[in-house]
Amino acid sequence: MSIDSDHRAQRRLHPLGVRLMHWTNAIAMFVMITSGWGIYDDYVIIPGLHFGQAVRLGSWAVPSLQWHFAGMWLLAVNGVAYLLYGIITGRLRERLLPIRWSEVRKTVLDTLHLRIEHDDLTVYNAVQKLLYIVVIVAGISQVVTGLLIWKPVQFSKGVALLGGFQAVRLEHFLGMAVIVGFVVVHVALSFLVPRTLWAMLSGGPRLPRAAVRAPEART
Ligand code: HEM
Repeated sequence: MSIDSDHRAQRRLHPLGVRLMHWTNAIAMFVMITSGWGIYDDYVIIPGLHFGQAVRLGSWAVPSLQWHFAGMWLLAVNGVAYLLYGIITGRLRERLLPIRWSEVRKTVLDTLHLRIEHDDLTVYNAVQKLLYIVVIVAGISQVVTGLLIWKPVQFSKGVALLGGFQAVRLEHFLGMAVIVGFVVVHVALSFLVPRTLWAMLSGGPRLPRAAVRAPEART
């Protein structure tokens, strides 16, 4: 095989499309969370819990709502593209499955003892896999519950299924809390292991296709 065709037979750990979708998602999430806090403050769910002007996008509920609706399209279209890409290319299955509970336990214990290793960037550890799946499900659930809150009359059956309008509001709020919790840990870890951050910016190492296709085969 010539050097040229050998080069073509390889692909980046994070192909350009994945990087673009990841960073677009980070921007969309930022807009959705901070504008959501602006809307929340108009009609609080947890008495006494307010979000200060400094962390809100929009000076009061109406501009915050406009940001929320604009960000919603970016989040939903980009999210659907990421899921379709992940399903069609097999990336989601390859990178996020299988999850072994014994590995989750070991990684949690190692992390608690501050033994954070990520020598092989091409394989996510069991906790990473689990957290990525949780955040993807939380993102989908946010779009669904957001739609129900936006159009409760049109989607009245869905609202009833999830326990009524106030229950759906609470579920939307809890979904936000899960995503914020994820982002805090995720960003902190990416700065603790900066090679991963550089890989998500630059694409990371070039891998033979087979190596990306079957990460579990190497473990
Ligand atoms: C500024 C904020 C963010 C930074 C610095 C960041 C950083 C990173 C890095 C470095 C990776 C690669 C991890 C590795 O190779 O070990 C990654 C992957 C990932 N991030 Fe983020 N991230 C951010 C925001 C977000 C947000 C807001 C979400 C979702 C709510 C998210 C979801 C994911 C997912 C699902 C992956 C796995 C992607 C894949 O391999 O297909 N990230 N992120």
